Amino acid sequence: MSTTTRLDTGELEQRVKDMYEEVALEPEREFHFETGRPLAERLGYAPNQLDRIPAESIDSFAGVGYFLDLAAIEPGEDVLDLGSGSGMDSFLAALATARDGRVVGIDMTEQQRAKAERLAHEDGFANVEFRRGYIEEPPVEDGAFDCVISNGVINLSPDKPAVFAAAARSLRPGGRLALADIVSAQQLPDGVTCDASLWAACIGGAMQRDRYREAIEAAGFEVADWRENSEYRFVSERADNATSKYGVTSISLLARRG
Ligand SMILES: C[S@@+](CC[C@H](N)C(=O)[O-])C[C@H]1O[C@@H](n2cnc3c(N)ncnc32)[C@H](O)[C@@H]1O
Repeated sequence: MSTTTRLDTGELEQRVKDMYEEVALEPEREFHFETGRPLAERLGYAPNQLDRIPAESIDSFAGVGYFLDLAAIEPGEDVLDLGSGSGMDSFLAALATARDGRVVGIDMTEQQRAKAERLAHEDGFANVEFRRGYIEEPPVEDGAFDCVISNGVINLSPDKPAVFAAAARSLRPGGRLALADIVSAQQLPDGVTCDASLWAACIGGAMQRDRYREAIEAAGFEVADWRENSEYRFVSERADNATSKYGVTSISLLARRG
């Protein structure tokens, strides 16, 4: 039985949108997961880089790992950020690709997209734009990007193979996929996968790690690097129980499109 068989995907989408609307509008609130600059610095983001991007995008950061060293974005490259949230990774990517490159961030939660777009205008980031859309079918041209990035998002999708296929489609041949995400050592039981609030908190949707890797490879990628992010932890007791029981962890990886 697939993990999504009994998950109400309509309810899930609404829960995820509600949760990340709050992350955009009230980042100081408590969630099942950490947010903000202390999290970013603990995961490995360099303070001097964070100082160069809008502080409000960092306040609403809800990623799960550092992976921009794996992405190794060069000046002039075109970058697609799947599930860009309030834009922290997109802004850092925009610094790396500089004026000759561009970054497109996609998010389905309008409050996240609108906040990121406002910050880009206020801080003069002319090479970044934020579009509303789904990571399973991002509103971008095929074969237009050098690098696809994503942080803490793909676990939230009920159709991960569609996300990896979309990433592959949007890349030029030889393009890279660099991301951080949540996976599990063991296949999660239905009681966890069908719990929309655990799913929206980045736990219930965690795919078994070997299946996750296979899904990336099935989309035409070769995995070049894969590491665990031991610095990432969940904060609520309920989330913590599920994570230690099933080996739910954060990983960062780099994959290349053939
Ligand atoms: C955990 S947050 C991470 C945001 C951002 N990457 C960061 O590191 O702060 C997940 C984001 O993914 C978005 N999201 C979740 N599922 C999505 C989907 N299927 N399509 C588009 N966006 C999605 C949510 O709206 C939310 O902004």
